[in-house]
Amino acid sequence: MLRQQDVGHRIVVRRIVGIREGRPLFSDALGELVELSETHLTLATAHGPLRVPVTQVHRAKRVPPTRRPTAAAVVALERAADEAWPAPTRGRIGDWLLRSADGWTGRANSALPIGDPDRPLAAAVDEVERWYAEQGQPAMINTPLPLAAPVGTELDARGWTARPPTLVQTAPLPLPAPSSVDTPPATGRVDLADGQASAGGQAGRWESVVVELATAPSEGWLAVAAGRKGGLPDAARHVLTAVDQVRFAHGYVDGMLVAVGRATVTGQGRWLGLSLIEVSPEARRQGLARQVIDELAAWGVSAGATRVFLQVEQHNTAAVGLYQRLGFVTHHTYLTRVAPH
Ligand SMILES: CC(C)(COP(=O)(O)OP(=O)(O)OC[C@H]1O[C@@H](n2cnc3c(N)ncnc32)[C@H](O)[C@@H]1OP(=O)(O)O)[C@@H](O)C(=O)NCCC(=O)NCCS
Repeated sequence: MLRQQDVGHRIVVRRIVGIREGRPLFSDALGELVELSETHLTLATAHGPLRVPVTQVHRAKRVPPTRRPTAAAVVALERAADEAWPAPTRGRIGDWLLRSADGWTGRANSALPIGDPDRPLAAAVDEVERWYAEQGQPAMINTPLPLAAPVGTELDARGWTARPPTLVQTAPLPLPAPSSVDTPPATGRVDLADGQASAGGQAGRWESVVVELATAPSEGWLAVAAGRKGGLPDAARHVLTAVDQVRFAHGYVDGMLVAVGRATVTGQGRWLGLSLIEVSPEARRQGLARQVIDELAAWGVSAGATRVFLQVEQHNTAAVGLYQRLGFVTHHTYLTRVAPH
């Protein structure tokens, strides 16, 4: 059976899903174990999170990882991601990072427990709790798995909860050409259909979309970010803009902003990081996100980046579908852990 040491590792679970003619029916599930309690276990599978009551588990065991990155690779990518989303208020506990940004986003308001905290684990977690209390914020810790699984075990014992898993996904640059993933036109512009028949009965209206990259976000761009992330305190502007190499994509139709995205180059110039990719609901499924990403990726290549990363919540099926189509694969996952009130 499974133990806490298995959290963060790939496992296979044989579940009893029913009984037929007095015999159990089994179903197998494969994925990363993200949570193990006395009553349930949660797996991050290729199709999303799967919560299994332990009473349904017939057998479960660890299986070898597929192309698992080294711990050093996870650390390097997490540090590049931290540089790409810089919290204005920062502290350290040994190698661990403490970050605060007026509560704006989990990433910028959680400790990153990688490396040596220079003290026993329990004392390091005490220090995290103290630092966030000083900021007047709930303590949060972002635990990349399996690297920070021992930290997760300590937090479990303290009753910390976990938000749903986030996937850190990567792809090599340049991205595949649009034609090879069969989406619309190549550079700079794409036709957008509004899908509505016009009053004259024509079957659909096509308009031109232009994607512009700017070194600073427009007010419209910031309004989209505020809508998505729940407001925009001053610290948010710092998080978004305080990176040397950063671009803000603005996708316009007839002068109206319908798509946004942000890209940074960090990690000693190696990593392009994508964030805040968003398309207006009425303009979705028409290749706009793809267009925005292509423009940002081309900029990243010209700036010297060789790989691209992003963070996506596992249950965001639209975004996971989009990134899968572009060749992204999961490098590792993380859980945002929150201290009990
Ligand atoms: C995710 C999002 C940016 C996609 O934008 P979009 O312009 O609709 O995406 P595209 O039209 O470029 O999609 C390209 C491909 O991605 C995949 N895809 C996009 N939306 C999808 C969905 N809802 N379900 C499944 N696959 C989807 C498809 O393969 C699609 O190609 P297809 O339409 O030919 O099947 C958009 O749904 C959105 O703004 N969501 C809210 C914000 C968000 O979650 N952003 C991502 C944060 S990580």
